[in-house]
Amino acid sequence: MIILASDHAGYLLKEELKKFFNKENIIAIDVGCYSREAGDDYPDFAKAGNAKVLEDSRNVGIYICGTGNGMVISANRNPKIRAALCTSTQVAALARGHNDANVLILPGRYMKPRKAIKIVKVFLTTDFEGGRHARRIKKL
Ligand code: RB5
Repeated sequence: MIILASDHAGYLLKEELKKFFNKENIIAIDVGCYSREAGDDYPDFAKAGNAKVLEDSRNVGIYICGTGNGMVISANRNPKIRAALCTSTQVAALARGHNDANVLILPGRYMKPRKAIKIVKVFLTTDFEGGRHARRIKKL
């Protein structure tokens, strides 16, 4: 299952991703926020997303704030979460292949929907490589 979370600064990009998932018949759960009005706080949505992601080891989160930094810092406070801020398809592939990231973070104010969708596709279709990377993850 895909878990979506954003603050107000990530709301519009999250809505674009929801349209894409709907078109592809992919189920995505949105844990908020539900408007682009300022006044909410990204840690609240990272926590809500983390709780859902950790319900099942097959779950993957996609969290969005303005820069991505608030979300990646917040999400990674949970030791079972490996959240990666990805601004290219190459970094997204390595975040999965090498870091076994279970949450993709995107910068809503600095990324166009078309590029975000390309990154999401790569993130969702790349497998963890294991081997030496598994050894490193065990040391986290
Ligand atoms: C909200 O204005 C903004 O600070 C937040 O979305 C994020 O970019 C923080 O890292």
